[in-house]
Amino acid sequence: MAQKVDEQAAQRDDVDEIELALLLEGVYRRYGFDFREYAPASLRRRVWRRVHAEGLSTLSALQDKLLHDPACMERLLLDLSINVTAMFRDPTFYITFREKVVPLLRSYPFTRIWVAGCSTGEEVYSLAILLSEEGLYDRTRIYATDINEQVLDTARAGVFPLDKMQQYTQNYIKAGGKREFSEYYVAAYDGARFSRSLTENIVFAQHNLVSDRAFNEFNLILCRNVMIYFDKTLQDRVQRLFYESLSTFGTLALGRKESVAFTPYADSYEVVDAAERIYRKTA
Ligand SMILES: C[S@@+](CC[C@H](N)C(=O)[O-])C[C@H]1O[C@@H](n2cnc3c(N)ncnc32)[C@H](O)[C@@H]1O
Repeated sequence: MAQKVDEQAAQRDDVDEIELALLLEGVYRRYGFDFREYAPASLRRRVWRRVHAEGLSTLSALQDKLLHDPACMERLLLDLSINVTAMFRDPTFYITFREKVVPLLRSYPFTRIWVAGCSTGEEVYSLAILLSEEGLYDRTRIYATDINEQVLDTARAGVFPLDKMQQYTQNYIKAGGKREFSEYYVAAYDGARFSRSLTENIVFAQHNLVSDRAFNEFNLILCRNVMIYFDKTLQDRVQRLFYESLSTFGTLALGRKESVAFTPYADSYEVVDAAERIYRKTA
């Protein structure tokens, strides 16, 4: 009896796996979004959440809906591209950035920066604030990209929830901020509206790290808390994209749980700061 139950469960898992693979293949062929090599456990959980949210009961039913209804694809995209972010997230990163990366940036007459996987923009606004306080913003162009067009709209608008400002002010102070954080925004009916001067040198654009190519050469690339959702193959592919997109002696800044160690490019970088995952391309 117990053996039969086990067998049935194993069969269900097999079917589930086939259905998930077909769904991801369908999404890729219909829309070009490639989630086929995303880390499977969290991907499966998120896709199932969408199955239930759409009032469906199988992955195949969701696949059918996705193929015929682009709005459903948008909703799945939001589920899959975990958008959690914050201003001056991990404040010690910004302290180290001021100490160790800013001097490198000062050596360039003009700096091109790529913030990949920028989500709703909090990170790129934080960077713009830091660079303007260091007197570097005017000679910088920042390309801020994400796979998800909807989060980019929020980033372009530069309006963030007012109730987050207390936490962001704390982060800003811990990150070594040099002014009053409230100087950078005005409280409006729809939230904290950040100064337009901060976006003057930022270009927001959709870019898929998995399937799109390099589009420029950068002195600095920030890609924090994006690759944690990718499996090893995909991480290596994105590392290659960054390697090819960085100028020699360019800087790569990753998230706390990300690294260039154990990638094919490990020997091409020197460590600028091990704890904050900041690297410099040397070869
Ligand atoms: C957790 S957020 C990180 C935001 C920000 N970098 C930070 O550290 O606060 C991850 C972002 O990566 C984006 N993303 C996921 N897969 C992507 C892909 N293949 N190409 C580009 N962006 C992607 C998501 O849309 C999401 O906005």
